[in-house]
Amino acid sequence: MDKKIDQIKEEIKCFHIKTYNDLEIFRIKFLGKKKGSLTILFKELKKIPIQKRKTYGKIINELKKEVKNKINIFYSKNEIPNNKGLQFDPTIPGKSIETGSRHPLSIIKNRIIDLFMKIGFTYVDGPEIEDDWHNFTALNIPIFHPSRDMQDTFFLCKNPDVLLRTHTSSVQIRYMKKHSPPFRVLSIGKVYRNETISSRSNFMFHQAEGFYIDRKVSFSDLKQTIHYLINSLFGDAKIRFRPSYFPFTEPSAEVDIYCDSEWLEIMGCGMIDPQVLKNVNIDSEIYSGFAFGLGIERLSLIIYRMKDIRIYFDNDIRFLKQFKSEF
Ligand code: PHE
Repeated sequence: MDKKIDQIKEEIKCFHIKTYNDLEIFRIKFLGKKKGSLTILFKELKKIPIQKRKTYGKIINELKKEVKNKINIFYSKNEIPNNKGLQFDPTIPGKSIETGSRHPLSIIKNRIIDLFMKIGFTYVDGPEIEDDWHNFTALNIPIFHPSRDMQDTFFLCKNPDVLLRTHTSSVQIRYMKKHSPPFRVLSIGKVYRNETISSRSNFMFHQAEGFYIDRKVSFSDLKQTIHYLINSLFGDAKIRFRPSYFPFTEPSAEVDIYCDSEWLEIMGCGMIDPQVLKNVNIDSEIYSGFAFGLGIERLSLIIYRMKDIRIYFDNDIRFLKQFKSEF
């Protein structure tokens, strides 16, 4: 018995398992139901006098453990789940993969893009880092104009001024310079302002900019487009156009939406100022156009009935997981 044990011990130690085939041979050699050498030893155990049986039983069990260990080591190196220590267990559930969900702001963004695609708008992107001309001067906001104060931003360098854009209206300039009318364009992206973070404002937010230039585009086209957008998003929500001022539109208006017994401002709009068209070499005698700029965070607060925009940027999975969308 002792001899056999020593021999098997040595064999277990020296056996090199390199492939799954080796593994199977190894398993059968020692643990095979009929001829496995350890199985045979277990059978022989019965013939051994009772006093020694316990000691030998222990030793043989140790050897069995060594065999299983070796098998497990092979499995762990080859990354196959091994439930019983002997074979692949197909009943073990797979590793679950967390599926993501879209950020609420992306859902609104995609809905707006979808709506404007339906009425013939083209989607374009613009850079977040802008120069003074595209962000201010070309939009009829000269260097000492007071409206620059409302759009203080983060400057990356001075002289020449390079800054984080304060609105998506800079995309109007970039697009109009490269294309000749007619065109209908939508752009959505991040804009930056030097503002204190609060429930309604942040140093970064998202805007959707739309503009349409053609012969005889009028303010009623603008109103119609805004009504189309708001009705598609909210059903028949009450909105109002309030006269306002932007250096790059004339006339200009602010659009408010009636929600929970108060009017909330959601966008600025107006007819593109002829001076802006001149700045990008479009003949303002032939062409006219409208533009609007919409705050996506504000809009989402109303759509999702929330009170604080900071929640959009907290990266709290419990909040983000709640949004499911086909967009
Ligand atoms: N750019 C303006 C803002 O950010 C919004 C706007 C866009 C107004 C287009 C009129 C036309 O406040």
